[in-house]
Amino acid sequence: MALPSLRTSASGTSAAGQTRDRRTPARRLADRRLFFAETFRTFRTTGAVTPSGRRLAEALATPLAQPAGRPRAILEVGAGTGAVSRILAGLLGPEDTLDLVESNPRFARVLEADLHSDPRLARHGKRIGLIAKPVQELDPGARYDVIVSGLPFANFHPGEVSDLLTRYLAVLNPGGQLTYFGYRGTARFRALVGSSRSLARHGGVAHVLDSFQQAHATGCRTVWANVPPARVWSLSAGHDDDRLEAAIPPPRSPGHDF
Ligand SMILES: C[S@@+](CC[C@H](N)C(=O)[O-])C[C@H]1O[C@@H](n2cnc3c(N)ncnc32)[C@H](O)[C@@H]1O
Repeated sequence: MALPSLRTSASGTSAAGQTRDRRTPARRLADRRLFFAETFRTFRTTGAVTPSGRRLAEALATPLAQPAGRPRAILEVGAGTGAVSRILAGLLGPEDTLDLVESNPRFARVLEADLHSDPRLARHGKRIGLIAKPVQELDPGARYDVIVSGLPFANFHPGEVSDLLTRYLAVLNPGGQLTYFGYRGTARFRALVGSSRSLARHGGVAHVLDSFQQAHATGCRTVWANVPPARVWSLSAGHDDDRLEAAIPPPRSPGHDF
């Protein structure tokens, strides 16, 4: 199964009208430094040493690539410093809305400022909003057409991941899509340096993700042009049982990548 990609032309403009990252080198450096600092301060929830690269962000934004012909409600969970948010903003239709959820107050401060100062976000005005709290505190009555999750599932407990995915699928409108990613090579890395407890937890998370993928996956693709390379999954609340059974292998032993 492959997610369609957003093609980028030599001029730097993709088929969807997205342009290359226009932040200054100083701003890019500041984002990387903040991420790096948060990796040490809040490793469990940050789960990355650097913001997602453009190719990964574009793969996560694939559900927005085709105009829907009607207003869409989009949710990004774990927006960080806005690497994916800026790509999503570039794909918004004139009546689409985008809610950015971020629980880390230091990342949320950066996003809040960018909502006013970054033209790619600011031009949408109040149609892009920031919810600076954990996604678990999101209004349970909210409904979305697309959810893009940047949460580091590999650092969470299996029950937590199961609760989050259940909740995502519950708040998706019929036909809605969820995308999320996991870094490749984490299982091998953990096998080398992890404690038996951490390996068991990681195996539990892999099993939960496998179960959701088997029931709901509509696409999967590896983005090699990211540091580190990442696998992007696309899930939908509805699914085609026969196609999925043919396409997705049964759960493997604990210790594999997501
Ligand atoms: C791997 S980073 C991804 C950041 C950004 N989306 C990117 O791709 O560069 C994970 C982000 O999820 C946020 N996060 C972790 N747990 C969260 C939660 N329960 N609710 C909302 N955000 C959360 C972290 O603070 C962090 O910004």
